[in-house]
Amino acid sequence: MRQSENISLKNYNTFGIDIRADHLFEIEKEEDLLMLDPTIFINKWMVLGGGSNVLFGSDYHGTVLWMNNKGKQVVKETITDVIVEVAAGEVWHDFVMWTIDKGYNGLENLSLIPGNVGASPMQNIGAYGVEIKDCFAYLHAYSIETGKIETFNFEDCAFGYRESVFKNKLKDKYIITTVAYRLKKEANLQLSYGAIQSVLSDMGIVHPKARDVSNAVIRIRQSKLPDPAKLGNAGSFFKNPIISQQTFLPIKEKFPNIVHYQLENGHIKLAAGWLIDQAGWKGKKVGACGIHVNQALILVNYGAAKGEDIMNLSKLIREDVFNKFGVELHCEVNFVMD
Ligand code: EPU
Repeated sequence: MRQSENISLKNYNTFGIDIRADHLFEIEKEEDLLMLDPTIFINKWMVLGGGSNVLFGSDYHGTVLWMNNKGKQVVKETITDVIVEVAAGEVWHDFVMWTIDKGYNGLENLSLIPGNVGASPMQNIGAYGVEIKDCFAYLHAYSIETGKIETFNFEDCAFGYRESVFKNKLKDKYIITTVAYRLKKEANLQLSYGAIQSVLSDMGIVHPKARDVSNAVIRIRQSKLPDPAKLGNAGSFFKNPIISQQTFLPIKEKFPNIVHYQLENGHIKLAAGWLIDQAGWKGKKVGACGIHVNQALILVNYGAAKGEDIMNLSKLIREDVFNKFGVELHCEVNFVMD
């Protein structure tokens, strides 16, 4: 386990915010957590994976546990399925590519999502009609309270839209170390969402396989979403708001073209990107940060923005969207401030 003091986190967060942390421990294997001095957890601490969903507002006067454990293996195989265990510190997209190379199906729609495996159940990452909960088997997590590794099954995780028990009831109580996915040998491709089908047609593919769907998703994402290596960002900054039918009807009357999706529970999901776009923010630059030109859901750092600048911009957007549509936006990105 490597340890650094007073270290810049610029390369540890995809927004590229240059703040410093007092201590950073690189967790290279599950056992490293068991070796930690438990008094760390009495003071300020946080877990960092790929840093793709975090916005630092100031220097961090505490301990950062950077999950960099590696490894993936098939732990069970039946005629139809495999169960794959993968370490939290693996890069999500590399893992998805590995599953496709092996002929295991299920995660192809989730190609090119930034971040590490450990964060995938944390917020039940999703894209193009699939969420990780659809393939989730179980996970292992280190308990801060007991200092032991525990297992969480599907029900224990209480998955919702960009939600899990680890963001709610068990926030800051566990550190996810390993995630297991149940993948299928036979493909059951989800092609109905957004542009997948039309991109596959453009690619001249009539009978797609998982790899083709993955390639289509990669093409769509690369055409719309900025690459964090080139332009600091953390993917969708806001969650898509979910509102009741009752709240929705008067809004729909005023804005008949509003993009919305009917959910099974009767609620309505609105497209935050559409709301922000309609409010006129898309492509706007405010100081060193701004709203991406192709996707209004994404805030970007043009180089020297501070976390606070981006947070202030997000506040302006939230206020404006609220004033125009009466809808409250909530952040998907976690703001970390001393
Ligand atoms: N829209 C606009 N203007 C914009 C952006 C979007 O009008 O600037 C409209 C689009 O035309 C579309 C609707 O809003 O009708 C939804 O847009 P899109 O499908 O591009 O994205 P989304 O539903 O808002 C979600 C996830 C993304 C994921 C995509 C694809 C959230 C908050 N975001 O975006 O996840 O890649 O679906 O499945 O749920 C992420 O979480 O970091 C992320 C990128």
